Amino acid sequence: MTTTTFSMEELVSLCKRRGFIFPASEIYGGINGFWDYGPLGTELKNNLRDAWWHDMVHCPPIGPDGEPLSIVGIDSSIIQNPKVWEASGHVGGFNDPMVDCRETKSRYRADHLEVIANSNGEGRMYAFIEGDEESFERARKLLAKYEKIDSLGDEYSTMLLTDIPTDAFERIVGPNTKEVGTLTEPRQFSLMFDTTVGATGGDDNKAYLRPETAQGIFLNFMNIVDTMRVKVPFGIAQIGKAFRNEVTPRNFIFRSREFEQMEIEWFCHEDEAQQWYEFWCDYRKEWWQKMGLTTENLQMRQHDSDELAHYAKDGCGTFDIEYKFPFTSPGYGELEGVAHRGNYDLSRHTEFSGKKINYFDQEKNERYTPHVIEPSAGLSRGTLALLCEAYTPDDRPSKVFMKFNPRIAPIKAAIFPLVNKNGMPEIATKLHEEMRKKHVVQYDAKQSIGKRYARMDEAGTPYCFVIDGDTLEDN
Ligand code: GAP
Repeated sequence: MTTTTFSMEELVSLCKRRGFIFPASEIYGGINGFWDYGPLGTELKNNLRDAWWHDMVHCPPIGPDGEPLSIVGIDSSIIQNPKVWEASGHVGGFNDPMVDCRETKSRYRADHLEVIANSNGEGRMYAFIEGDEESFERARKLLAKYEKIDSLGDEYSTMLLTDIPTDAFERIVGPNTKEVGTLTEPRQFSLMFDTTVGATGGDDNKAYLRPETAQGIFLNFMNIVDTMRVKVPFGIAQIGKAFRNEVTPRNFIFRSREFEQMEIEWFCHEDEAQQWYEFWCDYRKEWWQKMGLTTENLQMRQHDSDELAHYAKDGCGTFDIEYKFPFTSPGYGELEGVAHRGNYDLSRHTEFSGKKINYFDQEKNERYTPHVIEPSAGLSRGTLALLCEAYTPDDRPSKVFMKFNPRIAPIKAAIFPLVNKNGMPEIATKLHEEMRKKHVVQYDAKQSIGKRYARMDEAGTPYCFVIDGDTLEDN
């Protein structure tokens, strides 16, 4: 159980020091929202990816009828025909509201800013960044100072910036500003990354980097039905990169502009959709616990009606599986969404492509467009949750160790000869040769045994084998 608190700076510093994650293009000053995975981070992320693929595709869970689910995997293209994104609703519809501060030149998601105002809504209002305790306290203090009172009572309230009429913006003091009225009115900002396909350029050849892996699955629905002998209900799974030009990438790899998703589209009959929705919500939370996230750090949260995505089915909606990250604590941040997408996507692709996309149930002699339950997890964000969960401040010389579930630990075991003589290196090397055929193991004979243990503590290696005097005697 993670009880000791730590800051994100400490985690980011360990990730850099030990080769988990580095800023992308670091020697050129970095590039906001992009990250590179080092040797340990790559192993960790690959282990999470492989555990998901194994548990969802190769060995899927047992369904409510006691039979294993049927799920097949695909790997679709990142760039698709641009019409895909018109049909999916992303072109024109995948936007975030953004505000700029003219004084500090900072840019904010308008729906991530709140203001404190006196309750009749008159006088100055102070904006703060949602979930950021320091920025909230600063705003409270400024309002108290302005009103010449010791502390704020009930007559003051907080509200979302997006709920404030724009003619009142001239009375708002932005985060970290000296002047009043420096925030611009919210504008819609498209999250789609565009690019050009082919040499001729121009708008006719404009294409998009996918903002979710899900659409590649919908596009291949008929291919899978025609080639794989699947019967509804069944799932199609995909893991891969997604790209979003986020207004404010932040909190390390939590919100980046290039990231990886692990998505399942579960196709079922409309009458059974609610049952499958509940099944997937329960199962996916359980799965994250199996990866080592503790119950106290996980929660399920139903989306409010005003946060639902354009595809979420009326009245059924989306559940988020949330994790208590250090920067959201005591609150939680989204790790995975389980959405009831209805038959929105298959119907839209039918409409936009003119091709029939549906399913014929031979037993019931019924043709229909399946409904979809979508467990959509972040692989990058999941890797961050595992890093946060593993980080354990301690009294030992390294002051910290990483506690990973052995299944996802980057290095499974280290092999140390206690001293580099007396036949110990020979035995250790032989053991290393044997073990490395099956596992990621490391041989280390350099420096004191204490330093070698400390290095493995920080890498989160669950097992260390020391070849010592006893080994020479009893093997
Ligand atoms: N197909 C549905 C979909 O994409 P989403 O809630 O937008 O739904 C699913 O994304 C998951 O992808 C999120 O729960 C999160 O883990 C991850 N994710 C989304 N945007 C991200 C970003 N900018 N950086 C890192 N992970 C992100």
